[in-house]
Amino acid sequence: MELDAMKDDAPASKSADRKSWTYDEFAQTGLDFADPAEVEAYDRRQGDRDTPNVCLLEELRVKSGDIVVDLGTGTGSLAIAAARLRAKVHAVDVSRPMLERARAKTAAEGIDGIEFHHAGFLTYRHRPQTADFVFSQFALHHLPDFWKQAALTRIASMLRSGGVFYLRDVIFSFEPKDQGHAVETWFETVSREDGSGWSRGDFEAHIREEYSTYAWIIEGMLLRAGFRIQKIDTSLSTYGTFLAIRP
Ligand SMILES: C[S@@+](CC[C@H](N)C(=O)[O-])C[C@H]1O[C@@H](n2cnc3c(N)ncnc32)[C@H](O)[C@@H]1O
Repeated sequence: MELDAMKDDAPASKSADRKSWTYDEFAQTGLDFADPAEVEAYDRRQGDRDTPNVCLLEELRVKSGDIVVDLGTGTGSLAIAAARLRAKVHAVDVSRPMLERARAKTAAEGIDGIEFHHAGFLTYRHRPQTADFVFSQFALHHLPDFWKQAALTRIASMLRSGGVFYLRDVIFSFEPKDQGHAVETWFETVSREDGSGWSRGDFEAHIREEYSTYAWIIEGMLLRAGFRIQKIDTSLSTYGTFLAIRP
């Protein structure tokens, strides 16, 4: 089966729109997921992402013909699950090795209907039709808050009226005064030192070097981007899920 070409949305945005003060979202790949070995380790540590993604798409009633954008698609688990439903999928990521692995998985399953884009939250240009769904899982934390707001505003403009944005990430809902205890509890609960998952060092680096923020900040940003928030799940104090609708 013929695979869609990987579209490189970056050069246009770099030359045309890029100002000297614009955040370089591609620089992030120097730290993360920069080579195939890191990507393979990532996929192994993630475990089964397919089952929860299939359930999520079913819950949101994604169907054949829907236009779906997956921002920060990584190795493409959600994109592939959506393409199996015959949705028209745009899988977007700043990391070429991640996209290459997603493409290889797609080819192995004989799936079509996914267009891969080497681009990011700040550079992907969605066209020609507005999307029915935008998903982003465990990727928005790569942007500092100023740029998260820019990304959310761009996402709202990609969606049709009534379109759905699903966001899941490391997002905090503990009280700020409890942050030390909360992150220590998180490390203890989720770390795996036997190579089967992420180590304590990985989670420490997330806190130290990445840009996860509080749920009340994300909530405010979504509202300012023009979304109506339908559902917030902060039942775990270090993870957050937001379901937002473009009015
Ligand atoms: C932790 S992985 C999550 C991948 C996938 N969504 C999942 O849930 O398995 C984060 C992904 O975000 C990508 N990423 C980092 N910065 C990005 C940006 N500015 N725009 C789009 N993707 C970005 C990384 O390359 C990586 O593939």
